[in-house]
Amino acid sequence: MSFQNLTLEIRDRVARLTVNRPEKLNALNRATLQEMEQAFSECSSDPAVGLVILTGSGAKAFIAGADINELAQQTPVEGREYARYGQRLFQRIESLGKPVLAAINGYALGGGCEIALACTLRFAASTARFGQPEVNLGLIPGYGGTQRLARLVGRGKAQELILTGEMIDAAEALRIGLVNQVFPAEELLPKTEAVASIILSRGPLAVRYAMEAIHRGLNMPLEEGLDYEATLFSVLCSSTDMKEGTRAFLEKRKPKFEGR
Ligand code: COA
Repeated sequence: MSFQNLTLEIRDRVARLTVNRPEKLNALNRATLQEMEQAFSECSSDPAVGLVILTGSGAKAFIAGADINELAQQTPVEGREYARYGQRLFQRIESLGKPVLAAINGYALGGGCEIALACTLRFAASTARFGQPEVNLGLIPGYGGTQRLARLVGRGKAQELILTGEMIDAAEALRIGLVNQVFPAEELLPKTEAVASIILSRGPLAVRYAMEAIHRGLNMPLEEGLDYEATLFSVLCSSTDMKEGTRAFLEKRKPKFEGR
């Protein structure tokens, strides 16, 4: 499938999805969100894809937010529907069943920061900048920022970022736990791919169930989360991968996982 505002390349089980509107700093207009929905759906159903890397084209921006030209025209009803549409897409990314790594190569503002928050892991170029500047537009984050940012970095830092609308640099994003690691800009994609290949070498079912246990468990009381973890653990005990993984360890060789 070909896209207008995205590129999707699949190599060695990694789908690299690049938002490609550099002249608008990769801002998310409706057409781009719709293409993303299709692209993530393809990545989810394609057995050749084990993991997705999401990045932006050009050196300047990852994604500079929702498209302000479109936002400016919205009625309240359209605004609500648009926010719900973006939220559903980001929830789909968050629960894709395959890891989605954000390679944040520049500005990650508004919806750009929010989509990164919905990804499984976030890696940033040292030149990246982060922010939720919606209050500058008389708005609040509408793609999950008020919820996911507070869950990831805590209420205090989330409130500071969202209420001031100020940007922070990659070093500060790392310090507050907004990103997992920071790399020099030219090393961002190779280093992200290196993490991708480590994850892809592990038991695919185990990776998937671990993501599910963490994601769903965070929305449960501890006791229920522990019970859910034990259920997924016990399901894995019946998998071919678990038999192979434990046998390979005991035989002092590398496991050959099949994802079943
Ligand atoms: N929506 C639509 N267009 C956007 C955009 C957005 N979120 N962010 C940037 N652009 C466009 C600019 O309008 C400009 O287009 P033009 O050349 O047709 O005028 C182009 O991208 C380049 O941006 P520009 O502002 O000239 O670059 P800059 O280096 O001076 O500033 C930013 C970079 C990121 C600081 C600035 O573009 C910005 O503040 N963008 C808005 C970020 C935002 O509020 N996002 C949240 C939206 S809810």
